[in-house]
Amino acid sequence: MKGVVLAGGLGSRLYPLTKVTNKHLLPVYNEPMIYYPIRILVNAGIEEILIVTGGNNAGDFLRLLENGKDFGLKHINYTYQQGEGGIAAALSLAEHFADRDKIAVVLGDNIIEGNIRKAADEFRKQKEGARILLKEVSDPQRFGVPVFEGKKIIRVEEKPANPASNYAVIGIYMYDCRVFEFIRSLKPSERGELEITDVNNFYIREGKMQWDVLDGWWSDAGTFESLQSAGNMVAKTGANKI
Ligand code: G1P
Repeated sequence: MKGVVLAGGLGSRLYPLTKVTNKHLLPVYNEPMIYYPIRILVNAGIEEILIVTGGNNAGDFLRLLENGKDFGLKHINYTYQQGEGGIAAALSLAEHFADRDKIAVVLGDNIIEGNIRKAADEFRKQKEGARILLKEVSDPQRFGVPVFEGKKIIRVEEKPANPASNYAVIGIYMYDCRVFEFIRSLKPSERGELEITDVNNFYIREGKMQWDVLDGWWSDAGTFESLQSAGNMVAKTGANKI
């Protein structure tokens, strides 16, 4: 399995912090934000990693990460997203890199206390389909929210006003090679983006989506509040524990 970190976007919810740099280069306690999602992949035993970035500061990722020696990697792959288009549009740039292998995708602003080793190993055994990770949260309306029928997820709703459960679909997704075919058939959502939630709903409709609940805390870091609380949690307990 290969890994993809999505680190593009304008970071407009963090303006003016993102006026002259990319959101994923901002500090979360004592490290740049992008270190945390890269470690999620490395700790899951993934050695081939692609960073999808974009905007004005793409060159800074090369200078910061070089060939990945801080993470024990031999090299890191990079690609550049021209313009905007949402998470699924950014992911479509990973098709050539994936080369029909399975992929684990992490949003560049997702930070976890522990690791995804167990879920990744389960997905390696899974013949086909996809796997998502859930976490119980107090503010599900900010996220993709699963709708359950018993233990089965029957769909994911993106930022619902009346969430059907208290779970968020966190920004760590595992897909087989059909993901790129599904992305090609997507239409932009109301916010004008190709939504990762719509990709997940393709797999759900085909009955090929599995899920796990993540152990330990999880935070995104894309708003002032979540950036600050992620930093506080890293300071308190550390992140990416093996
Ligand atoms: C994105 C996804 C959402 C997911 C969240 C996790 O939201 O669209 O489904 O729950 O990441 O961080 P965004 O950060 O684009 O608002």
